[in-house]
Amino acid sequence: MTKRRSTHWYGKLDRDGFIHRSWMKNQGLPDHVFDGRPVIGICNTWSELTPCNHGLRDLAEHVKRGVWEAGGLPVEFPVTSLGETQMKPTAMLFRNLLAMDVEENIRAYGLDGVVLLGGCDKTTPGQLMGAASVDLPAIVVSSGPMLNGKWRGKDIGSGTDVWKFSEAVRAGDMTLQDFMAAEAGMSRSAGVCMTMGTASTMASLVEAMGMALPTNAALPAVDARRGTLAHLTGRRIVEMVEEDLKPSDILTKAAFENAILTNAAVGGSTNAVVHLLAIAGRVGVDLTLADIEKGSDIPLLVNCMPSGQYLMEDFAYAGGIPVVLKELAAHLRASKTVLGGDISAFADGAECFNRDVIRPFDDPVKPAAGLRVLRGNLAPDGAIVKPSAATDALLEHEGPAYVFENIEELKADIDRDDLPVTPDTILVLKGCGPKGYPGMPEVGNMPIPARLIKEGVRDMIRVSDARMSGTAYGTVILHVAPEAQAGGPLAFVETGDRIRVSASKGELTLLVSDDALARRRATWKPDPPRATRGYQKLYVDTVLQADRGADLDFLVGKDTRIPDRESH
Ligand code: FES
Repeated sequence: MTKRRSTHWYGKLDRDGFIHRSWMKNQGLPDHVFDGRPVIGICNTWSELTPCNHGLRDLAEHVKRGVWEAGGLPVEFPVTSLGETQMKPTAMLFRNLLAMDVEENIRAYGLDGVVLLGGCDKTTPGQLMGAASVDLPAIVVSSGPMLNGKWRGKDIGSGTDVWKFSEAVRAGDMTLQDFMAAEAGMSRSAGVCMTMGTASTMASLVEAMGMALPTNAALPAVDARRGTLAHLTGRRIVEMVEEDLKPSDILTKAAFENAILTNAAVGGSTNAVVHLLAIAGRVGVDLTLADIEKGSDIPLLVNCMPSGQYLMEDFAYAGGIPVVLKELAAHLRASKTVLGGDISAFADGAECFNRDVIRPFDDPVKPAAGLRVLRGNLAPDGAIVKPSAATDALLEHEGPAYVFENIEELKADIDRDDLPVTPDTILVLKGCGPKGYPGMPEVGNMPIPARLIKEGVRDMIRVSDARMSGTAYGTVILHVAPEAQAGGPLAFVETGDRIRVSASKGELTLLVSDDALARRRATWKPDPPRATRGYQKLYVDTVLQADRGADLDFLVGKDTRIPDRESH
């Protein structure tokens, strides 16, 4: 039998062993906890600057109880935290930094297994990417969603209602006073956004991939049962170490395919695409946009904002992801979970308690609702659109482009009274891809021009190399690859060019001749880079395009070696 990893730190009867144990004993740990028991890292993204994760400090205590109870030694450690609503220019810029932080911490310390405590949008994928690159037994506990937002007797959802309220203010249908008053009602407990935004999407996919215990995605952050789940997770990770059950055993191609189907069924975030592609790259799974398309025929089953009307609290009480997995049973592929069995076991005994919140497969909220991948001369390496959050009539459309060369131009001009746009116009935004505005900010759901908002227009086609928030909605074509800053054809679109969109055929076509495009390309130059130092420069120099998950090129793959230690 191979030696447990932690014995390379705590099982040695030499000077190094003395140093490793002695310094840990300053925390009150007795001799016998260094008897070879599994050492479990609790990788915590708690931070007061990441409000969605502020409940994780308490949750870590529950995990520790479970670890102790199962005979392990829990050790909590902090990693970079990414507060989606607080960071500028965008938390996504730092997802790969978190992944590096997690990876290097796990590898450098004497751990045998790790519990990943995350929640806010980029923390879950960043932690999974890092853990996958070390490939020690790992399991996720999510923050859980906030309680439903409440304002003036109505449920309101994080993000989704912010977009609606701000458009209402611009249209003159809501006062600024009311707008400000809704803030406190929207975020009234610990937890992540309680819409099916990116955080709850990623928690749902983590559960559907078998990387967390069943019910992890939806239980509200402040529900006592989340503490119970954390406790049971602490117990389970100790067993996983004994069984040597690693991420690479769980995160197989089948698990990613199940995640893609689940993303369609829950009306999940477009951000899931870049995260799944990046995680797959870490474990050596060949996942491409062609795989993302496999979810396109799956119906929307979960009636949650932004694609539906309910919120995560309702989803939890209706039965959560286990019910979704039961509805998808005929389509799921066999894949192993953190419990060691097949994913189908997560649906054992699942029962739906509200059929308006989780619909049956044959009576869905919307048919064929999975993300569509669009390709064509405007996006040779693909772009994506989320039909469940779009206007059906706009998914097949041809119209003239109005181009914003960068985000500053958009902000300056979008509300101009003389902006030459109609509801048929296709708004195009450049320079917001991974390299262009480093981190690929969530600005793809450009505001509807003020003039059109006042005329009652609430949706129009928008095309960009940016992302959009998982809580946003509209007919928004995102992640155009290659991006403009990398010399993709998006860089050559001019106002007045006609663009054709066909979601049913998977096409995004710029109706400009190849010769004309070649002439435009010949005189084109990229903008000077916005990032010139530190991590941001490293990011811009090495980030992969959206169709490859926007990971840094040198972070793809894994390294499971135990590092040597130089005595000091
Ligand atoms: Fe953190 Fe939405 S901003 S989960």
